[in-house]
Amino acid sequence: MGTQHERRRDAMALDRSSAQAHATTAAGGEAPRARPEVETLTAYSAPLEGRRGLLRLDFNENTIGPSPKVVEAIRAIPAEHYAIYPEYDGLREAVLASLGDRGLSPAHVGLFNGVDGAIHAIFQAFGAPGERLLTTSPTFGYYTPCARMQGMAIEAIPYRGADFGFPFEEILAALDPSGSAAAAAPPRILLICNPNNPTGTRLAPERLLALAAAAPTTLVVVDELYEAFTGDSVLPCLRESWAPCPGAEGMFAAAPNLLVLRSLAKTAGLAGLRIGFAIGAPALVERVGRVCGPYDVNSFAVTAARAALADQAYTDAYVAEVLRARAWLLEELGRAGVRHHAAGGNYLLLWPRRPAAAVEADLRRAGILVRSMAGKPLIDGSLRVSLGTSEQMGRFWEAYRRIDGLA
Ligand SMILES: Cc1ncc(COP(=O)(O)O)c(C=O)c1O
Repeated sequence: MGTQHERRRDAMALDRSSAQAHATTAAGGEAPRARPEVETLTAYSAPLEGRRGLLRLDFNENTIGPSPKVVEAIRAIPAEHYAIYPEYDGLREAVLASLGDRGLSPAHVGLFNGVDGAIHAIFQAFGAPGERLLTTSPTFGYYTPCARMQGMAIEAIPYRGADFGFPFEEILAALDPSGSAAAAAPPRILLICNPNNPTGTRLAPERLLALAAAAPTTLVVVDELYEAFTGDSVLPCLRESWAPCPGAEGMFAAAPNLLVLRSLAKTAGLAGLRIGFAIGAPALVERVGRVCGPYDVNSFAVTAARAALADQAYTDAYVAEVLRARAWLLEELGRAGVRHHAAGGNYLLLWPRRPAAAVEADLRRAGILVRSMAGKPLIDGSLRVSLGTSEQMGRFWEAYRRIDGLA
């Protein structure tokens, strides 16, 4: 029999040995398998550790932090509110107010744990094995694993020529594959990053809407994460051509297959809090919401987003400062004869004289992070440099000239 203490000790020993057996089995490859699509997937990992305290020009984040009003609002959250599940009342309305709400209702706005969360949910809701994602190359890296985890095929059309022009005719042709034997059905999802990360390629909103109109059975997603730096959004374009009419679609009546992604990460400085939006016809937004958890967006992100949206002047001033710094750096690059490419967005590509990996490592040693584009089609050998304030770009340029032997 033994004492109660002995019985508990024996039970614990049994637990330990079965845990070890399980671990041994797992190491031996007997652990439960994920779906076949997941078994062949490599996790999307970005080198995100050890960046604090350095000049972060590697992920196109806001480089100075959010509005002081955001900080104040977060500090004002009473500790007992941490214990309550988040409430979203008024956040969709605040997004609409920032966009100009004519032709839109709260049902047009989906809230997500960053635009990454929106992208993941879109693929979960719409992507199925054997269906096709049509996109461009090179583009934002997270689209590919999201398509793969759903078992989708990916058709990525390269940007054109030395200035990475948008492959409009090729995309248009791929949207209607009826003439080709290879692919009988139109793509399930067309995903365009506009302006594109990392090439900066811009597509006029009218042309984007023409693509959406050409493929009514395809879900067309436009990732407008960087539109604030160019003003290329499809939303004003839809609003201008909208004549109020009955129906829930509002200004998306002309584009019921379109979803627009927006974030507060890169402009308003909320990347660490994770909040993003998908804007589109209520029927689409509702479907994407079906695959999300009820509280995927946390209370800090909600409070911060409300405060950031209420202080548009702060974001506008930051964007204006980045554009000033960009103009200055472009002049310097031109004068120094450095090969570079800058179009839309708060980033540019440049091709160092020395190997890009060595320049990236030396910049890191000098306290400055940039992102090597090694392995990316068309831009292998380049560095992507995010743009910050004039002072920060001055620091970058001083270090870069020294490190790449331009001084
Ligand atoms: C094009 C693009 N889309 C989406 C994201 C992710 O945005 P968020 O931080 O809102 O998840 C990024 C971040 O780098 C991006 O560059």
